[in-house]
Amino acid sequence: MTEVWIDTDLGFDDLAAVLTVAAAPDWRIAGLSLVAGNAPLPVVVDNALRCASFWRWEFPIHAGCEGPLACPLVTAQAILGEDAMRSAGRSLPAARATLAAGHAVEALAAHLRVALEPATVLALGPLTNLATLLQRWPELAPRIGQLTWMGGSAGPGNHTAAAEFNAAVDPESVQAVLDAGVPLRMVGLDACRQVRVHASDAAALRALPGEQAAVLADLLEGYVRIASPDASLPMALYDPVAAVALVQPAAVQFEPAHLVMELEGRHTRGMTVVERRVPRRAAANALVATRVDEAAARACVLGALATPA
Ligand code: RIB
Ligand code: CA
Repeated sequence: MTEVWIDTDLGFDDLAAVLTVAAAPDWRIAGLSLVAGNAPLPVVVDNALRCASFWRWEFPIHAGCEGPLACPLVTAQAILGEDAMRSAGRSLPAARATLAAGHAVEALAAHLRVALEPATVLALGPLTNLATLLQRWPELAPRIGQLTWMGGSAGPGNHTAAAEFNAAVDPESVQAVLDAGVPLRMVGLDACRQVRVHASDAAALRALPGEQAAVLADLLEGYVRIASPDASLPMALYDPVAAVALVQPAAVQFEPAHLVMELEGRHTRGMTVVERRVPRRAAANALVATRVDEAAARACVLGALATPA
């Protein structure tokens, strides 16, 4: 059994990623740390507690940082809706679950300290919690054995032409993680865009029994409609591809690269600049996802969404 700590700004694709890990037989979620990103922290907390009640999650959920290290919070609510859970119908039922005591950064630090070996962390949002931990306790950097992050891009952005959302929200936190020398695996937009979901995938979920499948079908359809209001086009899966990289490693290929975080550019702030000519042009400081087996990734994620709670 492999343990993983998940840091998330819980929107729909984050939920799909958590369900993908939760459905994996050899994986155990040690805890969830919440961070502002898709929506302000109170909304992310409400989403997480609704999910915890609906899927009867037993791992601790801690609220974390309310905003980026060095700039005002920008959310994705204009695209994802006020609750960052755009739906074609049903929404998550009201929460009965409650947060675990303690700030997420302290909870993750405690987890890293007691872990028997350097921990596996999956990050699905801005890296504010991770960066805050590493700045406060730099001695914990070696306690992170692998950080797999859905974020950045080796190609065009989505938040801006140059920058992917998670990186763009808090670029200083990405820089802090790079400075700390944490073993980073970046699953960027260019990798995620190789895996798409369709309105027909939502229809297939809707045909299944159970309340969870019905709600997921409406949330998935709402997510697909981000790409086209009439759901005629496919939509790229983001966070779940990073989860697949953990639970089905053969489906996602990585290559060493030199990753630079653009902090200054008037038009390029938040851009992850990926130099693949390593070590000739620069020393590798990250692994970057390059190729994804779409069929395997889709089967893994859609199979998890179809798994009864
Ligand atoms: O750019 C995609 C990322 O931004 C995903 O993590 C999504 O949840 C949003 O946070
Ligand atoms: Ca996310």
